[in-house]
This record gives sequence, C-alpha cells and structure tokens, in this order.
Amino acid sequence: MATTFGDAPVAINIKGLYAAYQRQPVLEDINLQFPAGKWTAIVGPNGAGKSMLFHVLTGSMKALRGSVHAFNEPIATHRKAGHIAYMAQREAIEWDFPVSVWETVMGGRYGHMRSDPLWRRLLPSPPWRGCA
Ligand SMILES: Nc1ncnc2c1ncn2[C@@H]1O[C@H](COP(=O)(O)OP(=O)(O)OP(=O)(O)O)[C@@H](O)[C@H]1O
Ligand SMILES: [Mg+2]
Repeated sequence: MATTFGDAPVAINIKGLYAAYQRQPVLEDINLQFPAGKWTAIVGPNGAGKSMLFHVLTGSMKALRGSVHAFNEPIATHRKAGHIAYMAQREAIEWDFPVSVWETVMGGRYGHMRSDPLWRRLLPSPPWRGCA
C-alpha cells in the first residue's frame, strides 16, 4: 500500500471498490488515492456515482467488494471514532426543525469540531451524556 502522494501522505486509499444499488452496479473496480492536507474534487456527469462514492467513503453504504482505508485504518474504524463528517448534496429536510443555515453547513465540520477544545466548550453536551 502506498504511503505517500508526491510530498503528501495518502489520506484515503480506495482499492478495487464495487458498489451497487439493488444489484444495479454503479461503482466498478474503483482505485483512487487522495492526498492528506489537500482539496480533492470528484467531477463527473449526473448519475456517474459521485454521491454513491461518498456514501461508501463515509461508511453509510457498504461496498460489494474492495476496501476503503483512511490513514491505513478501515473507514469503519474512523466512522466509529466520529472522525467523519459529510454534508449531503440533498437531504430530506424537516423545514420546521429549528436548524440554521450555519448549523447545517457546520455539520460538515463535525469530525473536526468535536476534537477541537474551543468547539467542545461551545457545542451543547450530547443529550446522551450522563445517561445510563
Ligand atoms: N436510491 C437509489 N436507488 C437506486 N438507484 C439509485 C439511487 N440513487 C442513485 N441511483 C442511481 O445510481 C447511479 C449513481 O447515482 P449518484 O447519485 O451516485 O450519481 P451522482 O454522480 O452523484 O449524480 P449527480 O451529479 O446527479 O449528483 C445513477 O444511475 C442513479 O440513477
Ligand atoms: Mg450526487
């Protein structure tokens, strides 16, 4: 497994990835590496499978085959540790729910914010904290 990307280490390593919606293949033998500390854009036509790739990357959808690692750890490990944040392209929105645009956008920074001591002081305690 490669550990560098030019001068940057590999952050995300996708190998031989296959994924499908109800047996309809969408991603077939995807092999990609994303460098750490850089912006990466996934560009493609409508229906190419960009959103599906993100669903697999965030661990919300299981691949049929292949592997996704972040910093040499399976993506599931990062998901459990709360390292992953994702701002969806489209979502079912409950318009009456009192969430501001700012809060919605900052949801994409969740993984970063929860490890930042300043944000930890500003964020409300999770409702489950202290529960048996
Ligand atoms: N819930 C679903 N069930 C079945 N097929 C789906 C579902 N969502 C997407 N698809 C199909 O899977 C394929 C990939 O869709 P995906 O949404 O990943 O594409 P995309 O590249 O993100 O497109 P866009 O640029 O429109 O956002 C398309 O053929 C799409 O019609
Ligand atoms: Mg999409």
